[in-house]
Amino acid sequence: MSEPLKLWRNAQLATCDAAARVIARGALTTRAGRIEWVGEEAALPAAADEVHDLAGAWVTPGLIDCHTHLVFAGTRANEYAERLRGRSYEEIARAGGGILATVRAVRAASEEQLFDESAPRLAALLAEGVTTVEIKSGYGLTLADEAKMLRVARHLGRAFPVTVRTTLLAAHTVPPEYRDRADEYIEAIAREWLPQLCAQGLVDAVDIFCENIAFSVAQAERLFAAARALGLPVKMHAEQLGNLGGTLMAARQGALSCDHLEYAGEAEAAALASAGTVAVLLPVAFYCLGGERQPPVAALRAHHAMLAIASDCNPGSAPGASLLTAMSMATRLFGLTADEALQGVTRHAARALGLEGERGALAAGQVADFVVWNLRSIEELGYWIGFNPRRTVVRAAEVLRWPNPIL
Ligand code: NIG
Ligand code: FE
Repeated sequence: MSEPLKLWRNAQLATCDAAARVIARGALTTRAGRIEWVGEEAALPAAADEVHDLAGAWVTPGLIDCHTHLVFAGTRANEYAERLRGRSYEEIARAGGGILATVRAVRAASEEQLFDESAPRLAALLAEGVTTVEIKSGYGLTLADEAKMLRVARHLGRAFPVTVRTTLLAAHTVPPEYRDRADEYIEAIAREWLPQLCAQGLVDAVDIFCENIAFSVAQAERLFAAARALGLPVKMHAEQLGNLGGTLMAARQGALSCDHLEYAGEAEAAALASAGTVAVLLPVAFYCLGGERQPPVAALRAHHAMLAIASDCNPGSAPGASLLTAMSMATRLFGLTADEALQGVTRHAARALGLEGERGALAAGQVADFVVWNLRSIEELGYWIGFNPRRTVVRAAEVLRWPNPIL
């Protein structure tokens, strides 16, 4: 028996496709979990087996949070308090706190504890209409503890109605076991950890923190070569605290994304644009670190680079699990337009995960993940702060019973 054709009618569609079309009296049809047709309701092609009247509501693609570290244990509220007193993120990191403080907490946590601590953060994102989320490792920094984090990420993806993409970020900082031996640490990841974790199906992409307090461009290049040999895409935490040249190298290598970019400039903007590497902006980290320098949005725009926005959910620089808040911050703090913010959590975020064409737009052939919103105008997304206008989440053409209200 063929799958039923579902019609979702009487909607205002923000398609987030390449043309960023808005269809005021729109409809879409779905079959077998995919979108089959999108357009003006008046042009509907076929009679449906099942009809959902969306009562004129706004509909967007399911939101995509393309950069999170949401699997972690404990908090670093003490460090936030220290930063409020004037200590810098780098000073805290160099003194053995920062990422290493969370590494100690994650190593001490069981897989179950890690799952239980992380689940509410994922639930908060889902409640805002996130249907795809990237989750990085990077607080284990031993083979066993990185595997533990990635298993928890996969487990979250089975336990919740969300698509999880995992990223190996073992190159987040040099662990105590490899103190002053960063090259050897990168070699261990490249030669042993990555192939093993990849063979276990735990890795969708590889990331590195390229910064003075972390790893060099040469070390990133070595890691990227290992990823490429396994057919894995790469991304980079780049130019957050200084300019090391990581973005130029990553773009040359065809990285999916470079993330943060506060210290990037014109040359980086041009390189990202011509490589098709997405510039992922993380305004919550900028806000919580009291950042003084902004990513080069005007140059990125002038070069037609693709801009994405993510929550960066992590215990150090971005203790939050709200993509809508990140959109608000990207508009107010970085000057993005409402439309750039919307593309940044849909189509461009999909591209940052290598999912372009599959997710992030209301277009024929895409997975039928979409959100029905309680909005009078689409600009209200990224306008509200601490208020969630989500009405209904549809995943693979099924109305989710959770997090939707029980009718
Ligand atoms: O994206 N910059 C490196 N990684 C995280 C922070 C991690 C942490 O402080 O725990 C980030 O901001
Ligand atoms: Fe990050």
